[in-house]
Amino acid sequence: MSEAPRTANDIGQNHGNTVQAGTVGHISIGGAPDTLPVPRQLPRVVPAFTGRTEHLAALDELLVGRRTIAAVVGAAGIGKTALVVRWAHRVQDRFPDGTLHVDLRGYGPGEPASPSDVLAGFLGALGIYPERVPLQFDDRVAMYRSEVAGKRVLVVLDNAKDVAQVRPLVPGEPGCAVVVTSRADLKGLVVNDGAQRIQLQLFHEHEAVDLVVAVLGRRAQPGAVAELVRACARLPLAIRVAAGRIATHHDLTITELVQELAVEHRRWDALSIRSDENGAVRTVFDWSYRKLPADQQLMFRRLGLHPTPEISAHAAAALFGADLPQVRALLEDLADQHMIEIADRDRYTCHDLLRAYAADLAQEDDDWEQAHRRMIEWYAHHARNAYRMVHPIRMVLHDRFSLVNDGQPKLVFAGRSKPSRGARSSPATRSPPCVRRRATAITWPPCSWGTSPPACWSWSATGTVRGRCVCAASLPPVRSVTGWPSVGCCTASASCTDGSNAGTGRPASSTWR
Ligand SMILES: Nc1ncnc2c1ncn2[C@@H]1O[C@H](COP(=O)(O)OP(=O)(O)OP(=O)(O)O)[C@@H](O)[C@H]1O
Ligand SMILES: [Mg+2]
Repeated sequence: MSEAPRTANDIGQNHGNTVQAGTVGHISIGGAPDTLPVPRQLPRVVPAFTGRTEHLAALDELLVGRRTIAAVVGAAGIGKTALVVRWAHRVQDRFPDGTLHVDLRGYGPGEPASPSDVLAGFLGALGIYPERVPLQFDDRVAMYRSEVAGKRVLVVLDNAKDVAQVRPLVPGEPGCAVVVTSRADLKGLVVNDGAQRIQLQLFHEHEAVDLVVAVLGRRAQPGAVAELVRACARLPLAIRVAAGRIATHHDLTITELVQELAVEHRRWDALSIRSDENGAVRTVFDWSYRKLPADQQLMFRRLGLHPTPEISAHAAAALFGADLPQVRALLEDLADQHMIEIADRDRYTCHDLLRAYAADLAQEDDDWEQAHRRMIEWYAHHARNAYRMVHPIRMVLHDRFSLVNDGQPKLVFAGRSKPSRGARSSPATRSPPCVRRRATAITWPPCSWGTSPPACWSWSATGTVRGRCVCAASLPPVRSVTGWPSVGCCTASASCTDGSNAGTGRPASSTWR
């Protein structure tokens, strides 16, 4: 008969209080079972989160499984992080296997995060001991994908630099959802990875007002709040900083802060909280600007010389002093970085604070006056052409002076036609008073017009060309604070046959109003 296996240990010798094991039959050695919590890495929701209803609803698309990636893009301080964190808190219980979050530092004072380091962090959060994290990048990607296979994990990749930084961090699993935020447009993620693109714009007026009221409570007087919101260009970051300053300085009123914002050299101080670099609007803009290549930086600075937010590619080409294709490419690049926005075909715009920032930078260039002059001459040239088309006879009387430059790049106006009803009420027909108002802000040193003194530009006309409004106007010189004569500039708007607008019936792109 064979001996039954022993299940107990024999007791060997016994010395005092010490018991020594004899033969050990079976023993298992191991630490306590893994009890790592499910990762929930989201930062806290911003206090007094306001508005963004339609964007929250757009993100909900991720929950129904039609898409697995969303790219929330937009300008600096527009509220991408605030939105995504808010949404992720609301829905993370639908992702029982965890919420991973990382600040990829794509735009900031330091170096962007390396995807390899982020993967090591994610693997740790998913319960992998550091010694098991592979050294090779590709192995880390493979292990990450294996770890989340069959799971439902929400991954929030905040502040991405570009698509290359994001792609290795996207799980292959359909049960996982990924939300990326970036100031860059991340087109590749949309085109190649099927990401849903959600672009954030400035707050609607009511959202901006709600945020000020939420921060300031009873100190928020309706009239003053509306002014503050306007002075902050409805940019969430600026509103938060400005309202925060008022909230913490009991002797500072909203009206006083609005006055500070109106003074150019005090604007950026008024929009900063000293102890917090994320709370200084200009610094946050700097992080975007410094990442641009030199030619895009120059284009952005040049845009600061334009007197109104919206500019055509043609006028920008005159400002930049280059041909249209090159300038269009630069403008597209700036739009991809959300330093400017596309307003319409071949037209671009940028909010008031970014424009003020560009204007500050523009003056640091030695040749800014030449660029400014090229732009004014370009407008004058096209305003004259438009005027000539509307009032060919009167033009003979006024056209005694030649303009110094030939108005490159050229707009070609298509011809004259009857006014349409819409054209009669278009903003350009109402523009002369507005032109006049802006004119006082434009100064020019005497003599820089060669033989054409500004006084010669006293045309003013409204009419229509091909059903579109045409207005050509310039003003007699007025004295500016510097003592230099100021010239008003021109608007010219018409259907035109230049390549971009031919046949579309769009207004020509020489309007400045
Ligand atoms: N919907 C909102 N409700 C309340 N506050 C908001 C909202 N959106 C943004 N903010 C405030 O505006 C500031 C900037 O927002 P946020 O950091 O989300 O911008 P961002 O687009 O992520 O900027 P960046 O490009 O610098 O990362 C934050 O301080 C936040 O408090
Ligand atoms: Mg952010």
